[in-house]
Amino acid sequence: MNLKTSSVYKEFFTCQSRYAVLYGGAGSGKSYVAAQKILLRTISETPHKFLVVRKVARTLRESVFALLKELIHKLGLSDEFKINETKMSFEYFPNGNQIILSGVDDPEKIKSIAGITGIWIEEATELTDKDFDQVDLRMRGPTKHYKQLIVTFNPVSAHHWIKRKLFDKAPDGTFHLKTTYLDNPFIDPEYRQVMERLKKDNYDYYKIYALGEWGSLEGIIYPDYETIDAMPQYFEKEYIGIDFGYNHPFVIVHVRIDAQNLYVDEIFYQTETENAKVVEHIKERHPWIKGVQIFADSARADLISEWKSEGFNIKKANKSVFEGINAVKSFRLHITKQSSNILKEIGLYAWKKDKDGNKLDEPIKLNDDAMDAMRYAITPYIERRGSAKSLKINQGL
Ligand SMILES: Nc1ncnc2c1ncn2[C@@H]1O[C@H](COP(=O)(O)OP(=O)(O)OP(=O)(O)O)[C@@H](O)[C@H]1O
Ligand SMILES: [Mg+2]
Repeated sequence: MNLKTSSVYKEFFTCQSRYAVLYGGAGSGKSYVAAQKILLRTISETPHKFLVVRKVARTLRESVFALLKELIHKLGLSDEFKINETKMSFEYFPNGNQIILSGVDDPEKIKSIAGITGIWIEEATELTDKDFDQVDLRMRGPTKHYKQLIVTFNPVSAHHWIKRKLFDKAPDGTFHLKTTYLDNPFIDPEYRQVMERLKKDNYDYYKIYALGEWGSLEGIIYPDYETIDAMPQYFEKEYIGIDFGYNHPFVIVHVRIDAQNLYVDEIFYQTETENAKVVEHIKERHPWIKGVQIFADSARADLISEWKSEGFNIKKANKSVFEGINAVKSFRLHITKQSSNILKEIGLYAWKKDKDGNKLDEPIKLNDDAMDAMRYAITPYIERRGSAKSLKINQGL
């Protein structure tokens, strides 16, 4: 098999430790290489049954499932793998090995898989300490080949359980490898430029996001929010926000408003998906959206028309950034636990800084697609610059 990979990962391919921890900055190739190693072992060792998990099954479908399919295709192995779309699983015909994907949000599925010989936990910081232990327990008993649990993630807070468990108190022999975009020769030049620009926009952000260092970020835009299990049943208003994208993620966010509370739920978050495919997906999986007012990125009037012609109630969103952020901040914010990408973005959504380190009234324009969709969704609550003042004058009359 012809696997192209950065030399920085050489040791990872040969390491046989129970825990292999790949961490670091965004775009360093962690997910790609984890998928490569799982595929390599699937093809060359037998018997194997790999379990790949992420907190939320939906996000797994959008990320790892798509990545494994792409790799199988690139390696010219499509005819040798049977892919089950519904179950999100793969079987390698020549030896019967399996790769099964499951969200931690589907514990019954995980429990039902017997004889797991290897695990990959993607975006491991999304899991709780307890989730991690439950998954880890699934890989036990004698196996012919070494058992390995691969963990991939971007470090967030140094207070996260993962720091304690897999670093400070890591079991002996745990393999650690920190990588950044600078180690990834496959990254496109544009991505590299975006990362370099971050150095100027907010150096602390660059250290955490691009260099993958543990840290805490100042100038977070939404520092206060609460995570909830589900959207409320009773509410006053509800809207959908859409941020169109292809190279960037295509994001659909659902909000409900009740008094001073804004409840937010992630419906869709995926790159490289055509508009028509997203429309089909929504019609099939979330037909109720037809009855909800949608606000979408006004820069794409063509796509708005396509949604309209499919019977959706869609309008242009108010795109004023600062005013939109203020509108969000005027509510108490609640985000559902299954909104993995929203939670990832919000943790790092920060103001730019000038060269002296002073906060600017402008967010860092990266990793903000769900943040944009969330603002768009509450368009009726966004006041144009100056309008708040004129409202007060009117009230005074
Ligand atoms: N071996 C490879 N061959 C070809 N392209 C690669 C390879 N490794 C990485 N890439 C490219 O680099 C991009 C970033 O890699 P990947 O998504 O694995 O990074 P990551 O470290 O998981 O990022 P994040 O921290 O954001 O999850 C991929 O989308 C892919 O285009
Ligand atoms: Mg990744």
